[in-house]
Amino acid sequence: MNYLCPSILAADFWELGKQIELVEQAGAPYLHIDVMDGMFVPSISFGMPVLECVRKKSELFMDVHMMVEQPERYIEELIRLGADGVTIHVEACSCIPETLSKIRALGKKTGLAINPETPVEAVLPYMDLVDMVLIMTVHPGFGGQRYIMDCVDKIKKMRTVINQRYPDVKLEIDGGVTLGNLEMNLDAGANVIVTGSAIFKGDIGQNVREFLKRMEAL
Ligand code: DX5
Ligand code: ZN
Repeated sequence: MNYLCPSILAADFWELGKQIELVEQAGAPYLHIDVMDGMFVPSISFGMPVLECVRKKSELFMDVHMMVEQPERYIEELIRLGADGVTIHVEACSCIPETLSKIRALGKKTGLAINPETPVEAVLPYMDLVDMVLIMTVHPGFGGQRYIMDCVDKIKKMRTVINQRYPDVKLEIDGGVTLGNLEMNLDAGANVIVTGSAIFKGDIGQNVREFLKRMEAL
C-alpha cells in the first residue's frame, strides 16, 4: 500500500485551511508538517500553533517532520497538540532510542530520517523502534528543490533491508518528487510519498487525484 503525504510547506499560507480541505477531500491520507528551527536547517518554518490549528479541523494523519536540533525537547508537546507521527533526524538527536521510545510510549508512530549524505546504515541500529524510515531526496530546509538521483540506490537498499527483516516499517521519501519521477521512486521501494510543490500549485484537488491514481496503478 502506498500513501500520499502532501507537504504544507508549499501551501499558500493565506489560504492554508482551504488548501488542506482540498487535499483531504481529494483523498490524500497523510499531511506532512515540516518543522524547521533555523539551526539544523538554515530556514525557519512553523511549529506548534499551526499544528494545533490544523488538528482542530482535519482528520488527516499528521506526519510531523522535525528538522530541528535536539527534537527530544518537543515530543510531548507535539503529541499533545495532535501529531500522529513524529520523525526525527539521526543527524540531530543524541538520544535516539530514548526519543523514539518516548514517541511510542505516548501511542504515536515513530520516524527516523536521514539526509542525502547519510548512509542507510545509520538507521539500522534503531530499526526495532522505528515505524517509518525517511530518506531525504533533497537537502532538508527548503521546498521546490531538484531531486537528488543518488538517493535512488539508498531507497532500494533500505527496501531490501525492510523486506527481509522489518516488513511493517514504512519507507518515506521527501523532496523533489513529481509525477515525472514518482514511478521510479515507487519501483525503488518507497511507499510514503511526500510532495509539496507538485501538489500546491494550480488545481490542488486534481494534483492529488492524479498522484493517487498513478500510485494505485503502479
Ligand atoms: C524539505 C522538506 C520537504 C519539502 C518538500 O526540507 O522536508 O518536506 O516540503 O517539498 P518539495 O516537494 O517541493 O520538494
Ligand atoms: Zn519534510
